[in-house]
Amino acid sequence: CGIVGYIGHQDTKEVLLKGLEKLEYRGYDSAGISVLNDNGVHVFKVKGRIATLRDAVDEDVHATMGIGHTRWATHGAPSKENAHPHQSTSGRFTIVHNGVIENYVDLRNEYLQGVQLKSETDTEVIVQLLEKLYDQKGNVSEAFRKTISLLHGSYAVAVIDNEDPDTIYVAKNKSPLLVGLGDNGFNVVSSDSMAMLQVTDRFVELMDKEVVIVKREGVEIQKLDGTRVEREHFVAELDASDIEKGTYPHFMLKEIDEQPAVIRKIVQEYRHEKEGIKLDKDIRQAMLDTDRVYIIAAGTSYHAGLVGKQLIENLAKVPVEVHVASEFSYNMPLLSEKPLFIFISQSGETADSRSVLVQIKEMGYPALTITNVPGSTLSREADYTLHLHAGPEIAVASTKAYTAQIAVLAILAVDTAKAKGIDLDFDPLQELAIVSSAIEALCDQKDEIEAVVSKYLETTRNCFFIGRGIDYFVGQEGALKLKEISYIQAEGFAGGELKHGTIALIEEGTPVIALATQKNVNYSIRANVQEVVARGANACIISMEGLNEENDAFVVPAVHELLTPLVSVVPLQLIAYYAALHRDCDVDKPRNLAKSVTVE
Ligand code: G6P
Repeated sequence: CGIVGYIGHQDTKEVLLKGLEKLEYRGYDSAGISVLNDNGVHVFKVKGRIATLRDAVDEDVHATMGIGHTRWATHGAPSKENAHPHQSTSGRFTIVHNGVIENYVDLRNEYLQGVQLKSETDTEVIVQLLEKLYDQKGNVSEAFRKTISLLHGSYAVAVIDNEDPDTIYVAKNKSPLLVGLGDNGFNVVSSDSMAMLQVTDRFVELMDKEVVIVKREGVEIQKLDGTRVEREHFVAELDASDIEKGTYPHFMLKEIDEQPAVIRKIVQEYRHEKEGIKLDKDIRQAMLDTDRVYIIAAGTSYHAGLVGKQLIENLAKVPVEVHVASEFSYNMPLLSEKPLFIFISQSGETADSRSVLVQIKEMGYPALTITNVPGSTLSREADYTLHLHAGPEIAVASTKAYTAQIAVLAILAVDTAKAKGIDLDFDPLQELAIVSSAIEALCDQKDEIEAVVSKYLETTRNCFFIGRGIDYFVGQEGALKLKEISYIQAEGFAGGELKHGTIALIEEGTPVIALATQKNVNYSIRANVQEVVARGANACIISMEGLNEENDAFVVPAVHELLTPLVSVVPLQLIAYYAALHRDCDVDKPRNLAKSVTVE
């Protein structure tokens, strides 16, 4: 979910709606805004996208302050009723909230007996509690701080008070929230800086359990006991064009095309004139000190982690385990003596990963976060951060962050190897430069990849991806991309494993996309292809130059064999893109998904 707020002199509807459009990647199943003017508070809510909300907002209502929300449903179905903002019984207080209040049932039982609740949501409990405490204390700031002090869980909240058109009350814990500073009598609130770049690039970071009183002429950060906190602002380095599609029809296509530039940027950022690689010496030391790396991630980042394991084990000779974040606590492995945890996360906000981070920090273990958002929660709470330098990724289906993650993991692996004195015949920065040109060549072959879609995937309901070794992991990512945006049921399998069960699903015409980029398995993966072809499959082989054979559907340029995922994934990203396009799916905002999942 994402929240915005504005207090100033402009018509607030437009600022809020534009902000929410930029936050839609965080969720888009329902949305709402509340604005306050002399006639009181006006609430507009819809089930659906911001575009629907825009249509629902009464153009004739003018106001210069308000708050807004775009939702990814957790508790309660996507509906107008469950959409934010929510109001207290009297209608005096209006709230937007991102996160989950863990103790809302207790709070309801303890403080809200006799209060007629309008919804089952944890959010309503916050605003009702505020009203109740205000009735007791008679001071809104004090009641707000008290309310916040009673909440357990994650939250970013913004509240407006009908009786006070000059203040937005804001607080956060574990969920991201920034206050943006305007030059001439306005200030804003937003889940991320992108959403408010339209009006300001100066932001103040908030810490957990802080409260902010936002007024037109200034903002005051307070601790829960009411003491004032001073904090410098920072200037968001985002370029507004980074978050626009430009001439592209979709962000996903733009982001696929940006991959060569991202890899070049990584090479530039991690290059050291004398030493080859520039890397924080504490990170180097942490890699030297550990006896086992535990990679924790979700979704596409997990798939990058699987490739990362190969890189770190092969090059740096450090054992690595890769875990799905949401499962780690329940299937916790026996930890080694000196574990190092590496969190891979594009957004740096994924709640599943964060809960592991909290857990292992309590156990006293060191953590490194590899993320695209250096100021994010996972970055702030880990000991070390490696930045992906991929620029904002807006499309829900991750593309350039995946390749950036693998590139940075390769650099980390080589750096560790060198620090350990392992002799490598491998200059990662040079090899990555080759990768960058290879991806560029692939991005110029979109027509051929679209033809693959027309030939293999046009009418199918399902599709299998097979590969061996590192190709298996890329196949899993290819399947995820296809599922996410085209809704074709897709699975990535180890080439040799298909015959142990799943091959029963192969029918006449079932598409099987096989990756063949590894010399040591080229023969065996092709044998697996024969097995499925013999059962009627429509096999599409994507191979690497030098290993290709006649009739392969597509050949990618040759790169170092440990870096092949960076190039072989590109046709798979484009296959997913064109499959979605041919099916009229919403490429950038697939159903049921959100880009940044801040709930467990
Ligand atoms: C969501 C997104 C996925 C992403 C995953 C992990 O589910 O839809 O595209 O891979 O979260 O996100 P992270 O920001 O931690 O990499």
